[in-house]
Amino acid sequence: MSSEKQYISVPAKDGETIRKMLLTLELLDNNCKIISDDGILYFPVKSEITKNQLTTLSSTVPIDTGTRTFDVIPQGPRTLVDALEGRLSPEKLALLPRAYDLIGDIAILEIPDEIVSHSELIGEVFHSIHTNFKTVLAKKGAVSGTTRVRDYILLAGEDRTKSIHTEYGCRLAVDVAKAYFSPRLLEEHNRIAQLVESGEVVVDMFCGVGPFAIHITKQKEAKVIAIDINPSAIDLLCESIGLNKLVGTILPVVADAHDYVNTNELSVDRVIMNHPSGAADFVGDACSILKPGGTMHYYDFIGGETPEDTLKEKVVGLVEKEGRSVKKIGLVRRVRDSAPYEFQMVADIVIQE
Ligand SMILES: C[S@@+](CC[C@H](N)C(=O)[O-])C[C@H]1O[C@@H](n2cnc3c(N)ncnc32)[C@H](O)[C@@H]1O
Repeated sequence: MSSEKQYISVPAKDGETIRKMLLTLELLDNNCKIISDDGILYFPVKSEITKNQLTTLSSTVPIDTGTRTFDVIPQGPRTLVDALEGRLSPEKLALLPRAYDLIGDIAILEIPDEIVSHSELIGEVFHSIHTNFKTVLAKKGAVSGTTRVRDYILLAGEDRTKSIHTEYGCRLAVDVAKAYFSPRLLEEHNRIAQLVESGEVVVDMFCGVGPFAIHITKQKEAKVIAIDINPSAIDLLCESIGLNKLVGTILPVVADAHDYVNTNELSVDRVIMNHPSGAADFVGDACSILKPGGTMHYYDFIGGETPEDTLKEKVVGLVEKEGRSVKKIGLVRRVRDSAPYEFQMVADIVIQE
């Protein structure tokens, strides 16, 4: 059987990058076979591609779009619910995870407490449907502590927590058991990189495995001082520096951001503060190193009816408490859901003097 579909096409050498991006954007139609034709790969897409998504894709590799006929893949069970029907009760089927995080070749599931006793079965069945993953893990508990790391349980496949993850063509060494990383922040990593201008000095106070630093220096001739208190995070960043062709430079630093800022003479153009549960305590440090006209990207967890207003009020108050004023509030946006009725938010704040 065949079907007429919209496609995204790329030169074969860019195939893996675009396949992963289409998966992350939930655009790839897995029901149809990808076509390879004269050095070009044609990826079938399952829904209308938005202008934003097109910009995102084409900023990474040269793409083409159009429609053509694709072979439809004969279907086995495609979802956990289909595959486990008859083996779990309808109530339990309704609790099965519908989505998962994808980090390189590792899939990470979140299994609700009510069905946690079936984790092994769920993992095995998931792995038999999604054979492209080498490892299937389940989250155990929430991220916690200074390093924002959580525990994981191996459900199926190879026993490991490390992989090489690709975002917008940036290769990132990630070990989910050792250092924080969220694949859901890729748009934000890229957004900030696009704002940076050549020649800027940027401090990423809580860099984790360094996605902002890698995105920025892959695109711009800027210098990023990438600080994290977790030595494993900085080891992974150092590995990523070797995996990418960078035009800028990164100075990886294992330190408490407060100590580093207060023991080094710094005057910088931009400070990234992506530590939503702790950034508020470091606004004084950011204010002390930002040049007049410099920008702070402040992240926080905010709930309530009007989180944008709450965040603006909070961050302006924090900056003014440090004796500096806000020249301009740029973009304020919800980056992702963090809990029911709560968002990880960002505010881009230009500091006056
Ligand atoms: C939410 S994660 C950062 C994620 C990273 N910016 C990203 O986009 O993937 C917060 C990070 O802050 C680091 N951290 C916590 N307290 C710190 C401190 N006082 N100084 C430096 N890093 C700190 C943690 O180790 C963790 O990697």
